[in-house]
Amino acid sequence: MTPTPFAATLLTWADASLRDLPWRRTRDPWAVLVAETMLQQTQVSRVIPKWTAFLEEFRTPEQCAAAPVADVIRYWAGLGYNRRAVNLHRAAAAIAEGHDGTVPADLVALMALPGVGPYTARAVLAFAFEADVAPIDTNIGRVLARVHGRSLTAREAQSLADSLVPGDHPWLWNQGVMELGALVCEKRAPACGECPVRAHCNWQGEGADPAAGSAGVSTPQSRFEGSDRQLRGRLVDAVRAADVPVADLRNVLEIEDLEHAERTLAGLLDDGLLAVEADRISLGR
Ligand code: ADE
Repeated sequence: MTPTPFAATLLTWADASLRDLPWRRTRDPWAVLVAETMLQQTQVSRVIPKWTAFLEEFRTPEQCAAAPVADVIRYWAGLGYNRRAVNLHRAAAAIAEGHDGTVPADLVALMALPGVGPYTARAVLAFAFEADVAPIDTNIGRVLARVHGRSLTAREAQSLADSLVPGDHPWLWNQGVMELGALVCEKRAPACGECPVRAHCNWQGEGADPAAGSAGVSTPQSRFEGSDRQLRGRLVDAVRAADVPVADLRNVLEIEDLEHAERTLAGLLDDGLLAVEADRISLGR
């Protein structure tokens, strides 16, 4: 099967242009799952050292599952969105118990894992198993909408993406489209003049950006300063360093409002990130 001219051009560009990122050197599905979980909401440069350290400590799903969740939360320091750590620990347990310790190579089984959605499931299939599937993250979603020339619904984006994957090079194709979005077809300053697939693009930077509001394309993260996310992160960071007496809750959160402080703690207890015993707050157990 010969790839379309669009696919052939993109594959050639990708082959020459992909950054040498550590998770691109492995096909270990556990390592890929960890990378994709970390990369969902955290930038590449922050993820690199954390991914390496995490996998040195938790080499397999079984090792991760056997560790206390508190250890996994500790290794998540600096990545933000700590709930992902708890979900990854739960996913490791599900893989250890339900799949003999092997990450399943199956879309439905992957999506049944805690914290694993349609993107992560397909990313594991494409990047670890080199399967003919099309994960859509924000970079890929943006490229698809622009190349197509209009905003896409989730269904349209998935079927367009599925139809484009060259069956004999799914790994390189998916990494390549993602990389084009990261390096060339950037959100705010697309370098259309340098784009290898400009001839195949129905937008070319002219007029309203079709990526705005298109499926898979993330909306800007809301303000961190003064947000509940900031408070959650502050408390988890404090507890990572040392258990916190419940009586110190407002001090540690740096807020006056007791009800707000207690709500913040309750959310973190619900998520399994923190636990309370004998009036002391510790990491989840
Ligand atoms: N973001 C999500 N997945 C990625 C990958 N495989 N390489 C680079 N950035 C990514």
